[in-house]
Amino acid sequence: MKICAIILSAGKSKRFNSDLPKFIHPISGKQLIDFNIEALEKNKNINQIKIITSKINSKFIESKKKSIFIQSPINGTGGAIKQFYNSNKNFDYYLVLLADTPIFDHKIINNFLSHGIKSKVDISVLSQKVNNPTGYGRVILKNNILFKIVEEADCNFDEKMINLVNTGIFFISKKAIKNVSSLKKNIIKKEFYITDLIDISRKQNLKLNTYVNIKSPILGVNNFKELNYLEKISQELIKSQLISSGVKILQPETVYIETDVQIYKDVIIEPNVVIKKGVKIMSGTTIKSFSYLENCLIGKNCSIGPFARLRPETVLQDEVKLGNFVEIKKSKLANKVKVNHLSYLGDSIVGKNTNIGAGTITCNYDGKHKYQSKIGDNCFVGTNSSIISPVNIGKNSYIAAGSVITKNVPNNYFSISRSKQKNIKNFKK
Ligand code: UD1
Ligand code: MG
Repeated sequence: MKICAIILSAGKSKRFNSDLPKFIHPISGKQLIDFNIEALEKNKNINQIKIITSKINSKFIESKKKSIFIQSPINGTGGAIKQFYNSNKNFDYYLVLLADTPIFDHKIINNFLSHGIKSKVDISVLSQKVNNPTGYGRVILKNNILFKIVEEADCNFDEKMINLVNTGIFFISKKAIKNVSSLKKNIIKKEFYITDLIDISRKQNLKLNTYVNIKSPILGVNNFKELNYLEKISQELIKSQLISSGVKILQPETVYIETDVQIYKDVIIEPNVVIKKGVKIMSGTTIKSFSYLENCLIGKNCSIGPFARLRPETVLQDEVKLGNFVEIKKSKLANKVKVNHLSYLGDSIVGKNTNIGAGTITCNYDGKHKYQSKIGDNCFVGTNSSIISPVNIGKNSYIAAGSVITKNVPNNYFSISRSKQKNIKNFKK
C-alpha cells in the first residue's frame, strides 16, 4: 500500500499581516511547518512526503531540503489537491496536512492513519471539539456519520453553534481523491475547498468517517493572536511533560522553554528562566532566576545564575558554578570551575577546579577574528583580569587581580601585570 502525505503551504497568509509566510513563524522555537514535517517523518507507513507551496513561498522552504510541488494558480485548498493529484496519481492513499495547523503529538497522526487503513475508509477527517469554533469548518454529522463540512462564511445560525471542527487533516483513498475533478469554486471566496470532497463523495456512497482527536489540541493559525494562543498551549505542554518527568519548575507560568531540549530529573528551574532549543541539562542542576540559555550542555549538579547567559556551543561539565551576570560563549568549563560574578568567557577552555575571579574578561575578538584561550586545571584568576586571546595559562597558575595577560603563563607560575601603585605624599588640590 502506497501512502503519500502532503502539507499545504501555498496560501498567501493575507490575515497574518506579515512579510513572511505564516508557516515559518515559530512556536516554542520551531517553525509552524516543521511540526508537521517532523510528525510525518516519524511515521514509517508513509512512502512520500511532499510540501505543496507557491513559487513565492518556496524560497522559505528550500533550506529544508524537502520535496516540493508548486501550486499555480493559488486557488484554494481544493485547488492545491487537484493540481497535485493530476500529476501524482499512483498512490493508494493521500494524507493531507495544513502547514498552519501544527500537530504537537506525532502519535495522533499514527493513530489517525492506522484507524483509516483498518476501517478501509474513503475519506476520514481528523476533527476535534473546541470551545470557540469561530473560523473553522464545522463538521456536520447525520446519525453519527460524517455528512459534510461547512466553512465559517457558509454556515447558517445552527451550524455556527456546532463546536466539532475540521482540523484540516484528511485521509483520502484513491477512489475518493478522483472527485477533485468535480470540485466547484466556492461562490463567496472563489476558491476550491478540499472540504467539498465530503459532500461529493457521500453522494457516491463512499465510506466516510470522522476521527475525533482528544489528545493535545490541533489548532489553526491565521493571525498573530492565534499564534500567541497556540504558543501558550505549546508552552504548557512542554513544561507539563518536563514536570511529569521529574523536573522541578518554580512558577512555571513565568518560565519559557522551547522544543528540542533535554532536561533530566531533579533539575530545578527557578522563575523567569528562558531555555531555548538545543539545551541539555543533566540531573541535580539548578538554573536560577533570569538566566537565558541557548544550545548548550550543562552537566550534573551545576548552579547557574541568577542572571547568567549561556550562549551556543557552551559545555559545562559537572558541579560548575556560575553566578550573576556571567556570560559564557562557545567555551568548555571542566568539573568544579567557578565563575561567580560579572565575567565573560568566549572561545575558552577552562580546566577543572579553576576559579575565575569577578570581572574577568576574555578579550577574544580583535574586530576581525575570534581567538581561543586556555586556562589549565586548578588555576586562580584574580579579579578584574583581562585575558588577551589567544593565550595559554598553565595549570596551577595564579593570576594577580587586575592583570592584563598577553603572554602564555607556564604551569605553576604566578603572573602579575599591572601598573605600579604610586603613593604621593602632601597631595593638595
Ligand atoms: C482551513 C479549512 C477549515 C479548517 C481550518 C483548520 C478549507 C476550505 N478550510 O481553513 O475547514 O477548519 O483550515 O485550520 O480547507 N493553502 C494552499 N493553497 C491554497 C490555499 C491554502 O496550500 O490555494 C494552504 C495554506 O497555506 C494553509 C492551509 O492551506 O497552510 C489552509 O489554508 P487557510 O486559508 O488558512 O484555510 P482556513 O481558512 O484556515
Ligand atoms: Mg488556516
